[in-house]
Amino acid sequence: MTEIKLDLGDKIGAGHFRECFSVKGDPGLCVKKLKPNLTFFQRLHLKLLRRNFNQDEFRIYHQLPQTLKPYFNPVIQASGDYLITTRPMDYDGSHSLPVSDYGKISNAHFWNEMKKIVALFEKHNLWFFDAFQLGTNVFVQRLSEDRWVPIIVDFKRHGWRSYPAQLNLLCDSEKKKKFYRKYHRFNILFRE
Ligand SMILES: Nc1ncnc2c1ncn2[C@@H]1O[C@H](COP(=O)(O)OP(=O)(O)OP(=O)(O)O)[C@@H](O)[C@H]1O
Ligand SMILES: [Mg+2]
Repeated sequence: MTEIKLDLGDKIGAGHFRECFSVKGDPGLCVKKLKPNLTFFQRLHLKLLRRNFNQDEFRIYHQLPQTLKPYFNPVIQASGDYLITTRPMDYDGSHSLPVSDYGKISNAHFWNEMKKIVALFEKHNLWFFDAFQLGTNVFVQRLSEDRWVPIIVDFKRHGWRSYPAQLNLLCDSEKKKKFYRKYHRFNILFRE
């Protein structure tokens, strides 16, 4: 794969493991990199489980069922310590914001789309239990004034390897239970 050279701009977000940067000259892209100051235990977690979150996310995106892809933010390229991805934009040209920035969301189209996502998770037995955590991993893409769509931007993990101490997550029904617990909380926090 040929490497793309990009000039990074401001930091636009940070999670527990990765930071996300804008790309100078291309408002539709961003780059995720592992944080330089990961804790000892975070490094150990990655090493022991041979995880490379960026490459995992690339692979997961490209293996998604076609019907789910529109709800996941496309990953363009990933290598050792970075990932190039698109940056969701609203119909008015502004950058989309995470659900956590909205507080409560009353848009009916948005919640209808959420229902469709959950039905597709059921159909394909895919339980991305980190996605609907605290509203930082899902963005609200406003396609028009009243058509809002959830876009999942962080889907690096969805199995037992994310929580190796929880052996019950080797079992599909336990993953599903965990997903619904988090999804329920997501609804309580953000649904209006
Ligand atoms: N495609 C994107 N466009 C704009 N901002 C993004 C995008 N992807 C991630 N971000 C921002 O960067 C933050 C960190 O990215 P991400 O959630 O992938 O990191 P992480 O460390 O893997 O997260 P976690 O703490 O959930 O494990 C996100 O919470 C979000 O605010
Ligand atoms: Mg995240």
